[in-house]
Amino acid sequence: MSLAGREIVLGVTGGVAAYKAAALASLLVQRGAGVTAVLTRAARRFVGPATFAALTGRPVAGRMFDPDAHPLGAHIELAARAEVVVVAPATADFLARAAGGAADDLLATLLLCAECPVVVAPAMNAAMWAKPAVQRNVRQVEADGMQVVPPGSGWLSCRQQGTGRMAEPEEIAAAVTQALADRPRRPS
Ligand SMILES: Cc1cc2nc3c(=O)[nH]c(=O)nc-3n(C[C@H](O)[C@H](O)[C@H](O)COP(=O)(O)O)c2cc1C
Repeated sequence: MSLAGREIVLGVTGGVAAYKAAALASLLVQRGAGVTAVLTRAARRFVGPATFAALTGRPVAGRMFDPDAHPLGAHIELAARAEVVVVAPATADFLARAAGGAADDLLATLLLCAECPVVVAPAMNAAMWAKPAVQRNVRQVEADGMQVVPPGSGWLSCRQQGTGRMAEPEEIAAAVTQALADRPRRPS
């Protein structure tokens, strides 16, 4: 399905699967969406903003305080523009902060402002994924209305087989597309 004219915020948090988020950004752009990437500080340790800027054709956001680019606050402006927010990968740390309603960085704060659908794709080590605290946070964000695209099983970057691999970009793009299909287009 074409995503022409749809506005997506892609949140990227600090896990190895951030490299797959670049493929997701490209896929969404190829389908016609306008994509703004928001990278956490940790995400920038994994994949540089230049990759996302080039793939989306837009500056990458990440700073809470950027009055020249975002006089109202980047969290307000990005949340107002987004028709869907997708966080891929979503780290254990991000899930804990989202479940608790934290507003300690740009991505967490814009999620609190967002009134559109939110899709999250967790990715982490199998032991982390199995922890009761992580599962509790996943249930909490689902109960709060976020759609979780669960991780799959297979080879993990920690050199183990297990559950925790981020869903493939195609599967996440399908969840984003469905979320947009359920939502009327904004009048232009
Ligand atoms: C090499 C390396 C790989 C990591 N991979 C993951 C991961 O896949 N999932 C995860 O939840 N945390 C992972 N972490 C830990 C996160 O980077 C850390 O919890 C960080 O605080 C996340 O911040 P953020 O959620 O704001 O991006 C990894 C850390 C390192 C050093």
